[in-house]
Amino acid sequence: MLQNRRILLIIGGGIAAYKSLELIRRLQDQGAGVRAILTKAGSEFVTPLSVASLTGDKVYMDLFSLTDESEMGHIRLSREADLVLVAPATADLMASMAHGHARDLATTALLATDKPVMVAPSMNVEMWGHPATQRNVATLARDGIMQVGPAAGDLACGEFGSGRLAEVPEIINAVENFFAAGSTRPLAGRSALVTAGPTHEAIDPVRYIANRSSGKQGYAIAEALAALGAKTTMVSGPTELEDPRGVETIRIESAREMLNACEASLPVDVAVCVAAVADWRVNKDAENKIKKNGGGPPALELLENPDILAGIAAHANDRPQLVIGFAAETDNVIGNAQAKLAKKKCDWIVANDVSPETGIMGGDTTTVHLVTGHGVEDWPESSKSDVAHHLASRIADELNGPAA
Ligand code: C5P
Repeated sequence: MLQNRRILLIIGGGIAAYKSLELIRRLQDQGAGVRAILTKAGSEFVTPLSVASLTGDKVYMDLFSLTDESEMGHIRLSREADLVLVAPATADLMASMAHGHARDLATTALLATDKPVMVAPSMNVEMWGHPATQRNVATLARDGIMQVGPAAGDLACGEFGSGRLAEVPEIINAVENFFAAGSTRPLAGRSALVTAGPTHEAIDPVRYIANRSSGKQGYAIAEALAALGAKTTMVSGPTELEDPRGVETIRIESAREMLNACEASLPVDVAVCVAAVADWRVNKDAENKIKKNGGGPPALELLENPDILAGIAAHANDRPQLVIGFAAETDNVIGNAQAKLAKKKCDWIVANDVSPETGIMGGDTTTVHLVTGHGVEDWPESSKSDVAHHLASRIADELNGPAA
């Protein structure tokens, strides 16, 4: 399964480091070539000689060693691999990764690499559960770092709970799954921008104009694009949802903030505007809470918000190759979507019927029609996640062109 795959194994300083020796053997059994970096703390648990004997290569340990650097600089070391695997990943190593430290060879290689990285955490149960570690785990997930384990069970420190290094077969399995999925990552090297959720337009410091968008569809699309390998940025209005894995998520409130964040994220290969952007905002929101002073309700003067989708589609030099909009309609779904396609000069419109009887707004399933310059495709009713995966693979086909 891992024939000709090159794995850079980074061995951190935890008691589970002894399992890295078994891991090297089993990776090699599957056909992988393994090169190892041993941290200073790691070398307290396993000897460089054991690691070198198993990898059949020199063990890389020191950022400032003239011989290490002249034989194989840290940049080359981090690039000449198909996957960087950190096992065991200690709390300290994960904290360094989350904060971008480059204090030794391992952390420098992790910062310098342009390759996918997988961590197999291993630490005491309290260290694993500590909010600082959990913050770092969340940061690494957002950065697209894959994770296997930890498992729960007896820990070397005598305590019991989560924090055990995943068993070697489980790590091998995760590595194999990664490479199996790799052959279906048709958006690798591409970039995507997704807008999602509602926008909030302030009336005063405590009141705002909003809509019922849950953000589910946009989040699912961002995650599906990232899963196909696209470097994905999502600009999201206020939602209850967690940041999707592997997606750089920028949270904003108003349409104008969304526009600025989108402009700053260009250029990209594909833009998918799913956000339910408020059409209007209040001209000059009040600095202080508007009081009920008996004079009747205040008159709110509304101004039209910028159209983010149309704005992106109108970019002259760095227009994304594919600009996609959504149209939630309660009547004449296809006709309105076609009009929207022409008016906003985008390439595709994903149209859905949100009339109240469908119960779709905020729900988990949806029935969509893909409206392009070439015609209309009716997709069967499906979950928002299935729609997202279908759309992401259609995007990949479009960007990659017809197979040779
Ligand atoms: O015009 P309408 O709001 O129906 O168009 C919906 C599409 O346009 C969606 O893709 C939505 O994300 C996008 N849009 C936008 N900026 C706006 C209004 C809508 O990007 N101000």
